[in-house]
This record gives sequence, structure tokens and C-alpha cells, in this order.
Amino acid sequence: MASLTVRQLDDQLKKLLRLRAARHGRSMEDEVRVILRRAAEESGRDALDRDELPVRPLGSRPHAAGADTRRVLLIIGGGIAAYKSLDLIRRLQDRGFHVRCVLTAAAQHFITPLAAGALAGGPAYTDLFDPRSEFDVGHIRLARDADVVVVAPATADLIAKMAGGHADDLATAVLLATDKPVLVAPAMNPHMWAAKATQRNLAQLEADGVRLVGPNSGEMAERGEAGVGRMAEAPEIAALVAALVQGSGSLAGKRVLVTSGPTTEPIDPVRFIANRSSGKQGHAIASAAAAAGADVVLVSGPVNLSDPPGVSVVHVETANEMLAAVEKALPADVAVFAAAVADWRPRQRNRSKIKKQQGRTPTLELVENPDILSTIAHRKSGRPRLVVGFAAETDDVIANAKAKLKNKACDWIVANDVSPATGIMGGDVNTVHIVTAKGVESWPPQSKDDVARALVERIAAASQEPER
Ligand code: CTP
Repeated sequence: MASLTVRQLDDQLKKLLRLRAARHGRSMEDEVRVILRRAAEESGRDALDRDELPVRPLGSRPHAAGADTRRVLLIIGGGIAAYKSLDLIRRLQDRGFHVRCVLTAAAQHFITPLAAGALAGGPAYTDLFDPRSEFDVGHIRLARDADVVVVAPATADLIAKMAGGHADDLATAVLLATDKPVLVAPAMNPHMWAAKATQRNLAQLEADGVRLVGPNSGEMAERGEAGVGRMAEAPEIAALVAALVQGSGSLAGKRVLVTSGPTTEPIDPVRFIANRSSGKQGHAIASAAAAAGADVVLVSGPVNLSDPPGVSVVHVETANEMLAAVEKALPADVAVFAAAVADWRPRQRNRSKIKKQQGRTPTLELVENPDILSTIAHRKSGRPRLVVGFAAETDDVIANAKAKLKNKACDWIVANDVSPATGIMGGDVNTVHIVTAKGVESWPPQSKDDVARALVERIAAASQEPER
């Protein structure tokens, strides 16, 4: 009997075999054995090998897309960040998505279709004119079968092709043919990102309704290079995909306004007064609301946090600027005021740096800042239906929160004890009490993300109640 080794197979067949073997978690030789045995069984002869290996998918979480499974078509572009897209496949699967991958030619210099296909639990598509994939699904079906199309990493070149409507490979043909929401996660060198052509192309994509996530700033793959251009992290992208697809999320169709962070009130060009606030809780609320499908505007004072994906962020510094931005962002269904607004500002803002003078200490005269929460909650018209304030207290937490609920005319107060011993200020854990006209609900200590999610659920439930 003639012998045949895998090495003797033609390249196309080898590629197919490799994919199939990866999908089943077998070696290529074992896969050949299984195929031959099945062929033998089908033709009525004895099995060639009774010791079939159990089917053990290599992608640990592959699942066939059922009628209610949401599908993501992940287009992987050619950049070093492509390795993060392998993690993205898993993150999306963890959220219950079925993932199909398309790799550009450039992407295949960084990761292989085998790796992407093995993780996705199905073949990764690469060629527009590959008869196998065209007869298998076809680029039009690839484009239409998805609930959302994600391009990660999106290189400057891929973005340019999208903006220009090119369709000379599978990725761009699919992008041109899709009628589904498209989310783009750019990744490139900071200079390429800042280039006028790239910014022009991005503006075009945004005008075309394409959503962007990132890029973030940080170190680049090239040694010594840093700046804006790092692809958004996989969990960030997955959260935004979930928000995009969740057209039916608990806050879908609602507009939510959130304030976060401190305000800074300048004394002169180099000095300011401010409150302590990391912005973590406010930003987490904005993220959770976006993940629940809301259209979210976040008005943030200066913080060391990146903008939450899927949220429109307005950056401000002073209380007056925050009030103006909040008023501009209205109308909203819900407003959550989590910012630690400075209560006072210096009456005078010196244009030049105040110089030290021997033996003389300057006296700062302060004037009161507008109370943003109170201003909005007292509005006769255009008041959000649900206005939620925060109360940062160090003593008599509940009593002070109740007084604020009344004086500021808001619907709920989220009260927390911010005494230094609690570690809440700047920390990741929060212990809050929800104070409403109906009473006080004390929540157990939990992460600020969990507080945000629970608060958003409560807001969503309240939004379902009929208006009185
Ligand atoms: N707030 C606001 N504008 C201000 C001050 C506070 O919008 N100028 C909002 C905060 O965002 C928060 C709530 O009011 O939702 C309570 O803020 P907090 O700092 O706890 O209370 P204050 O009103 O500043 O009162 P005090 O400092 O006396 O506790």
C-alpha cells in the first residue's frame, strides 16, 4: 500500500487540514485518520482506526451561532496590535458573542489565520477570490450575517481605504458591503495618527456613522516612542461592542448626563484650588450607562483617566465651565452629578504668576461657585426626569445626605463616607447609601464599577416607571 504523508499534500489542502485539525484540537495526522475512517464508514467498510480521539475544540469557548446568539465580524488589520485581537476574540466570546474573523494580508504578517480561527472556533477568512470561502459564506454574507463589524487594529491604511470606499480585498469589500454598525479601533504610530490625512479620513468615517474606540496614549511598540496611537484594550472594545449591539439595553433610547472628577479654580497661571477626586466613580457610571445602551454625555474635570469608550466626553476645568457644559448637554432623561465641584473660586484670577514677596502672604478672597446640581434640579423646564446627586461626607453621612436631597431638590442622593480612613477617595471600592424620599438603602462595600452597574440598573428600573 502506498504511503502518504501530510507534507506531500498540496498547500491549499494542507491549509484546510490545518484549520480543521485546529478546530477539533487534533494533530493533522489524527485529523487525516478521522477523515479516512469516516470515509471508510460511509462507504460501508470497516473503520480504519477505532481509537478516534474525542473532539476537543482548541478554541475553548467556540459555540455555533444560534438564532439568539449575537455575531461579531472581527476584521483584523496589519499592525503589531493584532496580537491583542486574539484576546479580543475571547473577551467577545465571554460576553456571549459568536466571532468570525477576517484577516487582511498585512495582518497575516503578525498573526496567523490558524490562531484566529482556532480561537474563534471556525475558519478565519482571508481572500476575496478564494473559491472555498466564497462558496462557504461569501463576502456579502460575511458582511450581512454579523450584528456588528469591528475593525481592530485599524491601521492608517485600512482607515484610508474605508474612507475612500475601496474594496480591493476581502476586508474592505466586506466593510463596503455591510449594513451593520461598524466599530473601528485605530492603532498606529502617533505621527501617523496625527497626520492630516489620517485625521481627514477619520472625520469622514465619523461622518459616515462609523464608531471609534481609542486610540489610547502610551508607549508604542517601537522602542522610545510614546503618544496617542495604542489600540484600545480588548476589554474596552468588548464592552463597547456589547453596548452597540445592546440596542435593547436597559437604558436604550435614554440620554444620560454625568459629571465627574474635580473642578480646578485658578489663582494664577500656575496655581489653583481644587477638591480631591479621582473621577473613578463618575467615569464608571458613564461607562455602565453606555453599556446599558444609553446615549451618554460625560462632563469631566481634570482626571488621570482615559475617556470611557462609547461616551461623549466634554473636558472642563472650572465649576463655571462645568455648569455651561452641563446646560449645553441638556435635555437629558437622567442626570447624575458625581463631580466634586469646588465650592469657591478666587475672586480674582491673576493673569501673571503672583510672586513671593518677603514677609507678605497674599490673602485670597473667595466667591461661591454655582451649585450645578441644585441649578439643574430646580429648573422649571427642561429638568431631567431623574436627577441624582452625590454627597461626600466625613460626619453624619445620612443626616447630611437627607439635607442635601431636600435643599438641592434632587430625586436621589448617593451618599458616601469619604473620611481618609475609609480609603474611598481615590480608591477602587465604595460603600454607598441611596437616600430617596422613600428612605435609605445601604449597599455593601463593592468596587466602584459594581456600584456603577447597580446604580444604572436602579436608574433603568426607575425610568420604566410611569411619569407622575
Ligand atoms: N455639587 C454641584 N455643584 C457644586 C457643589 C456640589 O453640582 N458647586 C454637587 C456634587 O456634584 C454632588 C452634590 O452637589 O452631587 C453634593 O456635593 P458635596 O460636595 O457633597 O456637597 P456640597 O454641596 O459642596 O456641600 P458641603 O461641601 O457643605 O458638604
